[in-house]
Amino acid sequence: MSQGLPTGGYESINPITVDDGDSFLGSDTTSTTSLSPSVINYREHHGRTYSNYKDVEDCAPKPSSRQPNDEKQQGSLDIMHQMMLIYDKGNLFQAPVENPQCVLDVGTGTGIWAVDFASRFQSASVTGTDLSPIQPEWVPPNCSFELDNANLKWNFPDNEFDFVHGSITDWKEFYGEAYRCLKPGGWIEHIDASATVTSDDSSIPPDCKTGKTFNPIISNKAWMEAVGFTELQIQKRKMPIGNWPKDELMKEVGGYNLLGCEEGLEGYGQWIMSQQSWTDEKMQVVFSKTREAMRDRKIHTYYLW
Ligand SMILES: C[S@@+](CC[C@H](N)C(=O)[O-])C[C@H]1O[C@@H](n2cnc3c(N)ncnc32)[C@H](O)[C@@H]1O
Repeated sequence: MSQGLPTGGYESINPITVDDGDSFLGSDTTSTTSLSPSVINYREHHGRTYSNYKDVEDCAPKPSSRQPNDEKQQGSLDIMHQMMLIYDKGNLFQAPVENPQCVLDVGTGTGIWAVDFASRFQSASVTGTDLSPIQPEWVPPNCSFELDNANLKWNFPDNEFDFVHGSITDWKEFYGEAYRCLKPGGWIEHIDASATVTSDDSSIPPDCKTGKTFNPIISNKAWMEAVGFTELQIQKRKMPIGNWPKDELMKEVGGYNLLGCEEGLEGYGQWIMSQQSWTDEKMQVVFSKTREAMRDRKIHTYYLW
C-alpha cells in the first residue's frame, strides 16, 4: 500500500549522498554482539523475555516497557551505542558538561554508556537505572546500577546530579523528575529515534509500508520548557539504514544501524503485533520482508535520531 507514505526530505544536520559503488558491509550482514544471560526469572512472551519489575504495569500500555530484555535485544542496544559513538567520533555526549561529579543514566539498558562514562570520568559517580537488571557485574568502582521505574517519582533527592542522560520514551514524566534531581546549572541530554522510516529520493517502493508517524521528538521542546529547562538545543540526525551513503562515516553508521535494526526488529515489533492478535507466522512474514527491504541497497532509507 502506498497510502500515507512519508515523503522524506527532512531537514537535518547531516544530509546524506547515495554511494553508487560497492561497500564493505554486504546486504547479508547479520553478526551481532552477545552478552551474558541473566539469572532473573523474567516474563516470557512469544519466546522472548521481558522485565518482571514490580511497577512495570505502571508503564502499560506504553511500548517502551515492552521491549524484550534478552540477549538478542541487548545485542541490538549495544550495536546502536556503537553506531552513535561512530557518528559522534567517540564522544559520549554533546552537552557542555564540565567536571561532572554526579551523573545519572536513565533507561541505561545494558549499562554500556554508564560504564564507558565512568571509565572516562573517574572522579564522577555514575548511576544507571532501568526496569531490568541486565547490566554487567564487573564495572568501574564509580559506576553502579539500580532498578527504578522512571515513570514514577525517582528515587533520588532534589539537586543531586550535574548531568542526566537518558533514553526512554515517556518523556513528559522524565523531564519533570530530571529537573527536580538536577543541580541548578546542571545539564540533561537525551536521544530518541523517530519511528518513521523514509527516503529523500523516492527510492522506497510504493508497496513498502513504512509505518505510522508517532514522533515524540515533535513535542519534546515544549515539554522541556514547561518544566523549566532553558538553553535548549535540538539536533536532528539522519541515520541511514544500510551502507548506501557515499560518505565513509555515514556508510559505517548505516552498516551498524542495519545490524542493530535487524537484531532488534522482532523485539520492537512482537509485543505490539501480538496485542493485535497477529499469529507468529504472520509476524515472521512481515519481519522477513522488512529485513529484505532494509538490506536492499537500492532503497535509501533513514530515520531521524
Ligand atoms: C532503547 S533502550 C536504551 C538503552 C540504553 N540507554 C542505550 O542507549 O543503549 C531503553 C531502555 O529504557 C528502559 N526503560 C523503558 N522504560 C523505562 C522506565 N519506565 N523506567 C526505567 N527504564 C525504562 C528499557 O528497559 C530499556 O533498557
